[in-house]
Amino acid sequence: MEKTLVLVKPDGVQRGLIGEVISRLERRGLRLVAARFMQVSQELAEQHYAVHKGKPFYDGLIRYITSAPVMAMVWEGPNAVAAVRQTMGATRPTEAAPGTLRHDFALEVGRNLTHASDSPENGEKEVALWFHPEELVSWERATDAWIFE
Ligand code: RTP
Ligand code: MG
Repeated sequence: MEKTLVLVKPDGVQRGLIGEVISRLERRGLRLVAARFMQVSQELAEQHYAVHKGKPFYDGLIRYITSAPVMAMVWEGPNAVAAVRQTMGATRPTEAAPGTLRHDFALEVGRNLTHASDSPENGEKEVALWFHPEELVSWERATDAWIFE
């Protein structure tokens, strides 16, 4: 089953939106696999955002993601990567579609509430970076047959 890393970033945690994010992903039909509330270290932040190193927003991005705790999670489902990114909305909240999390709760790209893996390959890499294999829970949900074809 396709997996994706989801972070409720420090702004989402500080604003009390962890439950809102989880609720929307649950309602969508995605299945929770792992979760950890944590402070992000400088080292993990740099590994996670290595692809953005050298960009003008990089230093601010590292400060942002390490500025307060995050809720790190793994969610799975058919097309989980695309489904979660659709629920999050476009990176820039003013370009996010109405009804998406970033449209409904954010204004600025540097305070855009959530992170979600951008491809199945990166999903696997990010899950491995953030979680130990034994933290991933493999389970069957009573409603699976009514959500997964
Ligand atoms: P994410 O990785 O957080 O799910 O977001 P994304 O794929 O939609 O965006 P990405 O291009 O990967 O950028 C990662 C995060 O960097 C911040 N950012 N700031 N100031 C800027 O122009 C800018 N561009 C990106 C955002 O917090 C974005 O989520
Ligand atoms: Mg990204």
